[in-house]
Amino acid sequence: LLAGGNGTRFGSGRPKQFSSLDGKALLEYSLDVITSIKAIEKTILVINKRFESDYDRILKKYTHEIHKVEGGDARQLSVYNALMFIEKEMKPLKDTDVLIHDSARPFSKTVFENVINGMVFENAVVPAIPLADTIYKCENNIVSDIPSRDQFVKVQTPQGFKFYKLLDCHKKAYGKKDVIYSDDGSLYLKYSNDSLKIVEGDQNNFKITKAVDLDIAQYILRNNQV
Ligand code: CTP
Ligand code: MG
Repeated sequence: LLAGGNGTRFGSGRPKQFSSLDGKALLEYSLDVITSIKAIEKTILVINKRFESDYDRILKKYTHEIHKVEGGDARQLSVYNALMFIEKEMKPLKDTDVLIHDSARPFSKTVFENVINGMVFENAVVPAIPLADTIYKCENNIVSDIPSRDQFVKVQTPQGFKFYKLLDCHKKAYGKKDVIYSDDGSLYLKYSNDSLKIVEGDQNNFKITKAVDLDIAQYILRNNQV
């Protein structure tokens, strides 16, 4: 569970994972979902070291096995740190699955279920939803291509992988600092020979990025089963 970011675009004094939604920190929504799913054995929480005591206060509530790992300078490096910790400290079995999730997506329960079901048959599963907007490709404000919208999907987390396959990809990507991947699916597609399977995402599983997104989340919470 990734909660090691700074929330720069959100623009509050503290990282957005600590922002309160109906009296509960955003991070707790993800932890509540994860700890309610029996198929998930262990949780690694990637933290922002500067706020360690804030995580500890939240973690007190949980009796599950949750390990803290220090994040890196970019999301990709935070995932790398977590995978290296798992390899070293947990020595998972060969066919263990790992799910990578953004704590900035509080309403993720159904998508976790879809991804876990998908992992029964696949090595790599990414949830996604269709696009509502038309997409233009442009350079310097000049449109160079208008691809058909049906070719595209919007990608979410959690994303599921065979642990050692994802670890192998991250080790290859580590050190090649010229490209930093914003999600694990894209890194996996680059460094593995596997295909990625898309499963159904959920519009409510959106990522809180800017301050206004918290108002949207508040609305969803009041009006939906999430
Ligand atoms: N994340 C992380 N380590 C980083 C960067 C991001 O663990 N070095 C986590 C964030 O905490 C978040 C998820 O990855 O849950 C998705 O990242 P994003 O939405 O970009 O969050 P931030 O990086 O915190 O926000 P910003 O990019 O606006 O600074
Ligand atoms: Mg970021």
